[in-house]
Amino acid sequence: MEKLFLCLFGFMLTQHCFMASLATRITNSSTDESALLALKASLNLNPDHVLSINWSSSFSFCNWIGVTCGIHRRRVRVLNLSDMGLSGTIPPQLGNLSFLVELDLHNNSFHDQLPWDLLRLRRLKRLNLSYNGFSGEIPNGIGRLSMLQHLSFRYNNFSGSIPPSISNLSVLQTLDWRFNLITGSIPPEIGQLRRLKILRIAYNKLSGAIPPTISNISSLELLSLPGNSLSGNFPKEIGNLLQLRMIYLHHNQLSGMSLTASKSQFVA
Ligand SMILES: *[C@@H]1O[C@H](CO)[C@@H](O)[C@H](O)[C@H]1NC(C)=O
Ligand SMILES: *[C@@H]1O[C@H](CO)[C@@H](O)[C@H](O)[C@H]1NC(C)=O
Ligand SMILES: *[C@@H]1O[C@H](CO)[C@@H](O)[C@H](O)[C@H]1NC(C)=O
Ligand SMILES: *[C@@H]1O[C@H](CO)[C@@H](O)[C@H](O)[C@H]1NC(C)=O
Ligand SMILES: *[C@@H]1O[C@H](CO)[C@@H](O)[C@H](O)[C@H]1NC(C)=O
Ligand SMILES: *[C@@H]1O[C@H](CO)[C@@H](O)[C@H](O)[C@H]1NC(C)=O
Ligand SMILES: *[C@@H]1O[C@H](CO)[C@@H](O)[C@H](O)[C@H]1NC(C)=O
Ligand SMILES: *[C@@H]1O[C@H](CO)[C@@H](O)[C@H](O)[C@H]1NC(C)=O
Ligand SMILES: *[C@@H]1O[C@H](CO)[C@@H](O)[C@H](O)[C@H]1NC(C)=O
Repeated sequence: MEKLFLCLFGFMLTQHCFMASLATRITNSSTDESALLALKASLNLNPDHVLSINWSSSFSFCNWIGVTCGIHRRRVRVLNLSDMGLSGTIPPQLGNLSFLVELDLHNNSFHDQLPWDLLRLRRLKRLNLSYNGFSGEIPNGIGRLSMLQHLSFRYNNFSGSIPPSISNLSVLQTLDWRFNLITGSIPPEIGQLRRLKILRIAYNKLSGAIPPTISNISSLELLSLPGNSLSGNFPKEIGNLLQLRMIYLHHNQLSGMSLTASKSQFVA
């Protein structure tokens, strides 16, 4: 009843409605098991695949391959299915793994869009979806994953622009979105990522100027933006960042680059 009321009230404020229904969703360890089984069901597994045999309800899901539970709570903390030759899609139920801290699916053949429900994984610190075939836009709601420290989408087909809500990821250290189809300009809000060390958005379809606010990221060690259509002057202030060791900018239409030789790297 309460949820219904909030949703009706939120009819004009859909965001509020969405948030309210999120808050009323309660999960437990059997929700975790059904989320994992929903994932298994969305995979194109051959019967001999290790997961097909190993992920059996006859055993606790905490002992399933790729699954690590918390020490005190029997809830999934880490899901690591990297390098397993998996093909399939991500079901919305994965968003019910409320205690998930690390999700690593790198080097598989997952495809299609990510379900919005993943934005409910608010404890997530590491998300690695590199080397898959994911597509669709990066949701603006990504800012809700505010505990993220490492975010890697390298080699997928993600499109759309970089959401300004990214500024909410205040503890992010690594952002690696190399080799996707990301368009638009780099939002100035990126300068609010004060813990960021590695920023790699090379080989996308970015255009416009490099925002001078990047010079506010005092922790930045590596900036890699080759293979885009960035234009305008390179903001010289960025070259003054004390931690910055590598800057890669080739294959763009930038001008005004006169950085100190020790920091600049314009080779491949
Ligand atoms: C877990 O939650 C589901 C629905 O959210 C409920 O049906 C089930 O009884 C709960 N299980 C336990 C062990 O609390
Ligand atoms: C599943 O794999 C894990 C890790 O290799 C192993 O410890 C467990 O015994 C396996 N379970 C089954 C049912 O094969
Ligand atoms: C997942 O497993 C792979 C291979 O064992 C390892 O290299 C990687 O660091 C793990 N990822 C996480 C998030 O622990
Ligand atoms: C990717 O995973 C496959 C197994 O599916 C493995 O053979 C291959 O070595 C992995 N690639 C890398 C770069 O680790
Ligand atoms: C899990 O997530 C799905 C989709 O987000 C939702 O419909 C479902 O009610 C959730 N709860 C359980 C217990 O599976
Ligand atoms: C991206 O899409 C193109 C065209 O459909 C496809 O050829 C390519 O393999 C895809 N890349 C990845 C990383 O999935
Ligand atoms: C920013 O993160 C906080 C939690 O730290 C969250 O409540 C808020 O909705 C997020 N804002 C955006 C714009 O994502
Ligand atoms: C993600 O996986 C790739 C391997 O595909 C690895 O090189 C990278 O370090 C990982 N990134 C993070 C942030 O875990
Ligand atoms: C961030 O960068 C912009 C452009 O370089 C600058 O005007 C602004 O003062 C900076 N903000 C802070 C808080 O350092």
